[in-house]
Amino acid sequence: MAVNLLLGLQWGDEGKGKIVDVLTSNYDIIARFQGGPNAGHTLIFDGRKHVLHTIPSGIFHEKAVNLVGNGVVIDPVIFRKELDNLAPYNLDFKSKLLISRKAHLILPTHRLLDAASETSKGKAKIGSTLKGIGPTYMDKTGRNGMRVGDLELDNWKEIYQNLTNKHLKMLEFFDVEIQFDLYELETEFFNAIKVLKELTFIDSEEYLSNAIKAKKTILAEGAQGSLLDVDFGTYPFVTSSTTTAAGACTGLGVAPNKIGDVFGIFKAYTTRVGSGPFPTELFDEDGKQMAKIGNEFGATTGRPRRCGWLDLVALKYAVEINGVTQLMMMKGDVLSGFKTLKACTSYTYKGKEITHFPYNIEEHNVTPNYTEFKGWKEDLTSMSSAETLPKELKEYINFIEDFVEVPVKIVSVGPDRKQTIMR
Ligand code: GDP
Ligand code: IMO
Ligand code: MG
Repeated sequence: MAVNLLLGLQWGDEGKGKIVDVLTSNYDIIARFQGGPNAGHTLIFDGRKHVLHTIPSGIFHEKAVNLVGNGVVIDPVIFRKELDNLAPYNLDFKSKLLISRKAHLILPTHRLLDAASETSKGKAKIGSTLKGIGPTYMDKTGRNGMRVGDLELDNWKEIYQNLTNKHLKMLEFFDVEIQFDLYELETEFFNAIKVLKELTFIDSEEYLSNAIKAKKTILAEGAQGSLLDVDFGTYPFVTSSTTTAAGACTGLGVAPNKIGDVFGIFKAYTTRVGSGPFPTELFDEDGKQMAKIGNEFGATTGRPRRCGWLDLVALKYAVEINGVTQLMMMKGDVLSGFKTLKACTSYTYKGKEITHFPYNIEEHNVTPNYTEFKGWKEDLTSMSSAETLPKELKEYINFIEDFVEVPVKIVSVGPDRKQTIMR
């Protein structure tokens, strides 16, 4: 049995959490493969809203096992808060939530280093979520990191202390003032470690290999989006992990020939939170309307998300890098009432028209060229079948399918689990 992947194709926040939750009833295992608490995945059902950061979005389903893979970075303090928020559901975490021994830990000083690095960059800052993601992945690739499996060793506190001491010296290199109370941070951290140690740590690559042999169904859940990928995103305004399909192989220990369908999620328009280039960004009433109707505020930081038209050049790039086999279009409902819609179908790059995603997409290099579409007035939020969708929306979707050469299989028309239309 193959492992299916679900990934964001834009700058994150496409609605991955919602769709993983919708699809979980078809799967035995949901596995997060990268990122950490920089992610905020929102699920809405039965009138309740949940935001998950590290815990996979299949956690509310009775049957599914949820796995935090080796490619994920875990902040025990945030993880503990997530567990606390799930307390009313009486979930059996010991058997339903498994953690890879090879996942790396975010230490309190990783967060301080993230803050110091961002402050020192001034206007050139990445707009990081300040969750310590960059410094933790740096320690991982620098071969200095601390892993979940280390917590089973007698000398784990020594490992922690050595790394923390190194970080405290590194903090002195930054010419910025960062206020912190290490005692308070460490008390919170060590208390959270106690909670984490009550969960089940596993060799997840072996677990998944056995699950594949036993023909279990597995869905790998991505975080962030392809345009935030450390290699293929808008570097340096990216995150520090591989958010694209290849990241599922390294982040779970699943071989490429075990990957089946790749579900690519995108919003019917585009958003971005944090710094970095965004060719189709809007600063006018249309952009304000998207932000307002779409309630575009970050699920992790609460920051307002920048909004703009759909960028099909970027979408096609993401589809190709990931080998997307099926598309899912989110938030179509937000575009109801726009008289005219636009989608970017080429760029003018250094004076020439191009249809591929170039090395630099900064404003001075790239101008988007648009194709216009007629909008629709109908409210989509209570529609439940593809046939009833307005003609203009169907035309918009058909155009997208032709442009990127992949079918749109799901159209989401609201944040609730139920507001999901299969095509
Ligand atoms: P993720 O990070 O990809 O899981 O996405 P987020 O949860 O950060 O952001 C998506 C936001 O859009 C959340 O507030 C969702 O509740 C909401 N959402 C998801 N799908 C839809 C949709 O089809 N329509 C509307 N209006 N909101 C949606
Ligand atoms: P989900 O999984 C949107 C952005 C940050 C910043 C850049 C680097 O909810 O889609 P980092 O904290 O990783 O060092 O920040 O990446 N970013 C996200 N934007 N959705 C996310 O996750 C994001 N995770 C990180 O805003 O620009
Ligand atoms: Mg999010």
